[in-house]
Amino acid sequence: MTASTTPQTSSVRLRITRRDTPDGAPYQQEFDVPRRPQANVISCLQAIALNPVTCEGRATSPVVWDSNCLEEVCGACTMNINGKVRQSCSTLVHELEKSGFGTAENPITVEPMKKFPVVRDLWVNRQRMFDNLKHIKAWVPIDGTHHLGSGPVESPANQDLRYGLSRCMTCGCCLEACPQFTIDNDFVGAQTFSQVLYFNMHETGATLKSDRLEVMEEPGGIADCGNAQNCIKVCPKEVPLTEAIAAIGRQTTVHAIKRFFMGS
Ligand code: SF4
Ligand code: SF4
Ligand code: FES
Repeated sequence: MTASTTPQTSSVRLRITRRDTPDGAPYQQEFDVPRRPQANVISCLQAIALNPVTCEGRATSPVVWDSNCLEEVCGACTMNINGKVRQSCSTLVHELEKSGFGTAENPITVEPMKKFPVVRDLWVNRQRMFDNLKHIKAWVPIDGTHHLGSGPVESPANQDLRYGLSRCMTCGCCLEACPQFTIDNDFVGAQTFSQVLYFNMHETGATLKSDRLEVMEEPGGIADCGNAQNCIKVCPKEVPLTEAIAAIGRQTTVHAIKRFFMGS
């Protein structure tokens, strides 16, 4: 088979890295699932759940994974597919087949993300990202439910940048690809930098700007970014991470200088 032809067999083969418990040893199993038009990787996992039998005919437990929206909005189904971190709901099987994957000789490989603790099989615990959002106070404080008047005027350029930053779905792709982010260090990574900028740019959110920048000065903050920009290449939502990293670097430096001279 050449790299650009679709195989004529009626099934697609997947090689899945599994783990029964968080501390268990990983192992691989291969499954043949019926080929269906427009199938995505999640629909293959669903087919395996309906009939959890390996390609050698051995009955096994259904593969476990996480998902929610099924339309690349929630980030829950992120995993490594053929070695590339991406969402399994938006990864179409026929696209992988065009590159020669899905055959018995060259199965589609599906592995959990490596930078987050595995709960079971392809399901990982992404809590660290949500904890970081709490740590940077990723919210806009309001002072009541009464009418607050019209909101502040925001320039179209600011709106564009903030809209780009708002697209982050906490999927973790940028962290999986980042050489500085490991499973057990304290680096917060590009996802957090983008949300610090997002909330600092908001007129009301900026009342917590100084608290956020103090977190950015801590170990694991912006100074630990090596600027390799792997994060930008893998972000599925094209969040403006280059701008975010540069802006948070500047804001953190200004904040540190101000504190040094003014003690604020
Ligand atoms: S910045 Fe992009 S890659 Fe990182 S968590 Fe957000 S959406 Fe995912
Ligand atoms: S620029 Fe490099 S070190 Fe910094 S967050 Fe992105 S991938 Fe990680
Ligand atoms: S299930 Fe939500 S992004 Fe895939």
